[in-house]
Amino acid sequence: MAGNLEYMSSESFENLSYEDRTFAPTAEFAANANAKSDIYELAKRDPVAFWEAQANNLHWDKKWDQVIDWQLPFAKWFIGGKINASYNCLDKHVLEGRGSRVAFHFEGEPGDTRTITYGQLLTQVKKTTNALIELGVKQGDRIAIYMPMIPEAVIAMLACARLGAMHSVVFGGFSADSLLARIQDADATLVITADGGYRKGAPFALKPAVDEALKGKTKVKNVLVVKRTGQPTEFDSGRDIWWHEIVDRQSDQHEAQFFDSEQGLFILYTSGTTAKPKGIYHTTGGYLTQASFTHRIVFDLKPESDIYWCTADVGWITGHSYVVYGPLINGATQVIYEGTPDTPSKSRMFEIIQKYKVTILYTAPTLIRTWMKWGDEFPNSCNLSSLRVLGSVGEPINPEAWMWYREVIGSNRCPIVDTWWQTETGAIMISPLPGVTATKPGSAMKPLPGISAEVVDDEAKAVGNGRGGYLVLTHPWPSMMRGIWGEPERYKETYWSRFNGLYFAGDGAKLDKDGAIWLLGRVDDVMNVSGHRISTTEVESALVSHEAIAEAAVVGANDEMTGQGIVAFVILRGGIESASGEQLVKQLRDHVAKEIGPIAKPRQIMVVAELPKTRSGKIMRRLLRDVAENRAVGDSTTLADPNVMKLISEGLNSAKSED
Ligand code: WTA
Repeated sequence: MAGNLEYMSSESFENLSYEDRTFAPTAEFAANANAKSDIYELAKRDPVAFWEAQANNLHWDKKWDQVIDWQLPFAKWFIGGKINASYNCLDKHVLEGRGSRVAFHFEGEPGDTRTITYGQLLTQVKKTTNALIELGVKQGDRIAIYMPMIPEAVIAMLACARLGAMHSVVFGGFSADSLLARIQDADATLVITADGGYRKGAPFALKPAVDEALKGKTKVKNVLVVKRTGQPTEFDSGRDIWWHEIVDRQSDQHEAQFFDSEQGLFILYTSGTTAKPKGIYHTTGGYLTQASFTHRIVFDLKPESDIYWCTADVGWITGHSYVVYGPLINGATQVIYEGTPDTPSKSRMFEIIQKYKVTILYTAPTLIRTWMKWGDEFPNSCNLSSLRVLGSVGEPINPEAWMWYREVIGSNRCPIVDTWWQTETGAIMISPLPGVTATKPGSAMKPLPGISAEVVDDEAKAVGNGRGGYLVLTHPWPSMMRGIWGEPERYKETYWSRFNGLYFAGDGAKLDKDGAIWLLGRVDDVMNVSGHRISTTEVESALVSHEAIAEAAVVGANDEMTGQGIVAFVILRGGIESASGEQLVKQLRDHVAKEIGPIAKPRQIMVVAELPKTRSGKIMRRLLRDVAENRAVGDSTTLADPNVMKLISEGLNSAKSED
């Protein structure tokens, strides 16, 4: 763990003046809000009873015998309860007369659209479940899903859940190698994919990456392929099956079985501080309780009238909790969009808001900053007056972007909820509540009711107001991860060993003078690029797997647009000419894209003769970050060779590259 608080001292505190700017809810919003101001007090008085009340909003075939079993660091929730995730998302609504409500307005990138009601979604999920049964899928199996953002991705997830099989969704932007590693780690037996999807105005292929991945040793028996683009696709007739050929002919009857509350629901891989991604493992009852509760109060969802749009892909946790499980349990009507924000024009997303009269928008700071850069004329050309709540997730939102979001997108009318959480936490943990919280631009404010977080120093002591430290969670919560798939020791070591008995999130945070929480970014070797978590070690090992590279050090440097940008320092193997500079840099960037995925391509690669190391051989990334961020290099007296930094600084700009 390379956490150090040094970097938090200077630039991160520049937002101090924003501490004094608050935006209180209007009386009208407060009067109609789902959250009432006494909710914090209620939860504090009896957190167990509070979560029990939230769980009671779900359909249980049998209620639990015990709310929580906490054997640090392993928690179980709603023990003995029987529940089915798919039933709660679909059957419940249809049985209660909401079958004709729209679940999804799907907008494909080329402009094709589909409207799917809860009744239709249930039928599709039942048929797909029957197809999975025909393919031999059973409770407890792991199914890899590698899809574009189309309704079948959601249908596939819910069909797995309906059977008690666990989905492992792999973001469609990951490479064949990354997909293979995830398939192998979870011993997946089926892959659900598509021929391709649409991005930036053109079809892209997905199936070839699956074919490539499956050249590795796996337990995969079949590949189920949705026809999305119709592009020529190679087929292995013994293994591959078109979705429409098997799903369409199935019966539309399927009665959901109810599983134990602690039945595994999914695995979702995320970057850790080592090269091997962690399979974050979630179960059912507690996860669904917190995902649906937070979705209802943080977004103030009114299912009869709201049109909710979360722009996340199902390949990330935000897509799991706030496109699939939370909103569907709450009976929300949603928009999902397949493509990129600038196709065919930079107004695309604003046109979608206008077209469907979106009322709640949940997106990421990277996109907000991109919109800011493109200019106000694009949002201003559309009618955005339907919007009433705006959300942000994935990385710290800078106050300037927050203010722009409020003024230009929300016309100073909509409360903003800056929501802090992680793949590991499963659901939102820290966020304002619209109608209750007076917000500050750039602050996630305070833990939700029923959640307890603190900011502590190196000795795990609370830092108090006005100071920075490490963000920790002090009590178990229903949607917490149940472990790292197959690696219980790594789970303890990663999250619970830094501060005894406390969950360490890996983030730095500051409490302002009023006790509001300001997130300051990661303090470990995890970078956050456009809201995507990528570990420095993962990129380093991708780089050194290239024949020209002897050694590599990677740092995340501040980036105006993407939050952080990946900057790599590499040492060439003997005999490789560094004169081949530009071409080599391009090769290396492509190599990283092939090994991990395009999202991990370094922004900048510098070829250096030496890396700054301590006498014990540890790379001093702090110094490299100084170089990458164009700062005077900090204290380098502990370096084995103090001249190294001088050489590196002089070589700066020698190998910049553009995408
Ligand atoms: C960061 C995404 C500041 C943080 C839901 C965390 C944030 C990591 C915020 C988790 C926020 C997420 N403000 N930072 N509102 N939300 N983060 O697992 O560093 O993809 O640890 O989950 O994103 O990323 P993950």
